[in-house]
Amino acid sequence: MSQLRTVLLTLATLTVLGAVAGFATVLFGLFNTSARSGHWAVTDWAMHTIFENAVALRAPPEAEVPDDLSDPALIELGARHYDSACAMCHATPGTSGGATIAAMVPPPPQIDRAVTPWTAAQMHWIVEAGVKMTGMPAWPAEGRADEVWAVVAFLTAVQRGMTPDDYAAMTAPAAEGYCAGCHGAGGTSRAPRLDILTPDYIADQLAAYRSGARPSGMMAHAAAKVPASGDAELAAALARLEGPAQSVPADPAAGEALAARGNGRVPGCLACHGPDNRNPRIPSLDGQGEAYLVDQLTLWRDGARGGAERAPLMRAAAKGLSDADIAALSAFFAVR
Ligand code: HEC
Ligand code: HEC
Ligand code: HEC
Repeated sequence: MSQLRTVLLTLATLTVLGAVAGFATVLFGLFNTSARSGHWAVTDWAMHTIFENAVALRAPPEAEVPDDLSDPALIELGARHYDSACAMCHATPGTSGGATIAAMVPPPPQIDRAVTPWTAAQMHWIVEAGVKMTGMPAWPAEGRADEVWAVVAFLTAVQRGMTPDDYAAMTAPAAEGYCAGCHGAGGTSRAPRLDILTPDYIADQLAAYRSGARPSGMMAHAAAKVPASGDAELAAALARLEGPAQSVPADPAAGEALAARGNGRVPGCLACHGPDNRNPRIPSLDGQGEAYLVDQLTLWRDGARGGAERAPLMRAAAKGLSDADIAALSAFFAVR
């Protein structure tokens, strides 16, 4: 009995001493947070092994990898976002990140090496989830797996050996400024045309991106690069910006009846989006990019697209859309 008591007493004393040492370490600066000497080798090994196993366990199944990852317009969209949001840490194909980035603990791997060990699905998980305690950020919007696939399309192009010249050509700045890099005539058909929109609608959407009411990791990043106080002026300029060239859809006639009259599941679209409707807060769809319309209608239908004050009207209109309806309507409006 007394032996058991001694053991318990010793354990209790050790626990208390351990807790005191722990608190002292936290409260009196005893743990050295300097990044100068890096992690111990064993810490590095443990962190990387945990990371690799977490990726292997959680990456989406191969069946979820979209089949358009080699679409040049999708690769360009991913590359342009990468250039603005990721290159400061991972550098660009064929270049290195410089001394300050190399002094991070752990240092971000240069992009040609960062993509080497992973499948497309694994890179999707890494870019969407981020990596705790390393500086690798999570995707800054929820429910936008589609945007992350654009970045993965670019990363797989790097795996296939993108040269520094290819990269420079793909991310070349536009004369009309940063926003025109994606939205201008030399931009990517995966980004929407803005010249069919009104300044009011554009300014509303910029505010929705800034507040998160319209979740988009790409546009939240882009909108933060310009001061909100300039939105009205920027919106007026962008409503005149010539947009990216678009491909011509195969069968634009199929969506006509649905757009005009709707069916049992879906209301007609032209009642709100028609040429007679001059409500400046309902966007024109005429001549908008087909791929963009497909993406957005899918988001509306799935409840993942936010927007401005009138967004609930559109969410209700899109509820009953089938994939075939979305394809037909997108082709119809793209050439209207
Ligand atoms: C602030 C710096 C920083 C930014 C910005 C950043 N990363 Fe990272 N990233 C890291 C660090 C650090 C790691 C290393 C994690 C590790 O290996 O422990 C990493 C890891 C990765 C990996 C896995 C490579 C590997 O094997 O470790 C990929 C892929 C990646 N990042 C892609 C991206 C993409 C795409 C973006 C932009 C959307 C991005 N990163 C933005 C710092 C950054
Ligand atoms: C990396 C490419 C890229 C850059 C740079 C970019 N955008 Fe975008 N923009 C997009 C994409 C992709 C979308 C669609 C996002 C979504 O799904 O909500 C978009 C959407 C928009 C929309 C909503 C259009 C609509 O039809 O609802 C506006 C407005 C907009 N961007 C303005 C800007 C402004 C202003 C800038 C510069 C500060 C900018 N964009 C920079 C890619 C980009
Ligand atoms: C009751 C009116 C109404 C009806 C009916 C309606 N919409 Fe909309 N739609 C809107 C409003 C309002 C917005 C803008 C929401 C916002 O401000 O965020 C919108 C936005 C959109 C957008 C996003 C455009 C962009 O540039 O990002 C698309 C695409 C769209 N609608 C397609 C359709 C289609 C296709 C139909 C028919 C099936 C339809 N809409 C029916 C009111 C409507």
